Amino acid sequence: MAILPILKYPDPALRQVSQDVTVFDDELAQLAADMLETMADAHGVGLAAPQVGKNIKLVLVDVSGEDEEHGTSVLTLVNPKIVQHGGSMVFEEGCLSVIDLKANVTRAKTVKIVAQDIKGQPLTLDLEGYRSVVAQHELDHLSGILFIDHLSNLKRELYIKRLKKLQKAQEEEEEEEKEKRQEEPKSRIALKIGKI
Ligand code: CO
Repeated sequence: MAILPILKYPDPALRQVSQDVTVFDDELAQLAADMLETMADAHGVGLAAPQVGKNIKLVLVDVSGEDEEHGTSVLTLVNPKIVQHGGSMVFEEGCLSVIDLKANVTRAKTVKIVAQDIKGQPLTLDLEGYRSVVAQHELDHLSGILFIDHLSNLKRELYIKRLKKLQKAQEEEEEEEKEKRQEEPKSRIALKIGKI
């Protein structure tokens, strides 16, 4: 098991359309296990393979919700497809690949999904409410779609502006740290000389 690095927007790999899974081998099972550990470590409720740099149709959906009595329950869906949807609902979403943003998104309230499990066996799922929202969010990732694409242009542009500022501030901080590190050896030399 391993915790994998999660790609962050605007990484172009998040914009690619994922490939169908055709081989259900140990490597696929290992990736799903690593993704599960990565998702738990990041306190996520869903994770798609492209978010960890694997361009294949594999997602995890945590369906335990607020029903803690039944413990954690995570669905592993391979080659998932929405075949039916109904109603609409608004839910506040975030994404492990989109830092520092939560926003309301309107999605279908119910979805029927056909998929395969990690061994390639067919699955049909009917999901509603919160679980339906998480599944739709994860399936979007397989088409290179992020939840910010569902926001108004204005909201998305404001976020992009804010993100650029955040990144600039972070770069400046790193630059300062670098300068500090470069200064350190000099002060050590000075100290040594001082002792002579
Ligand atoms: Co996401």
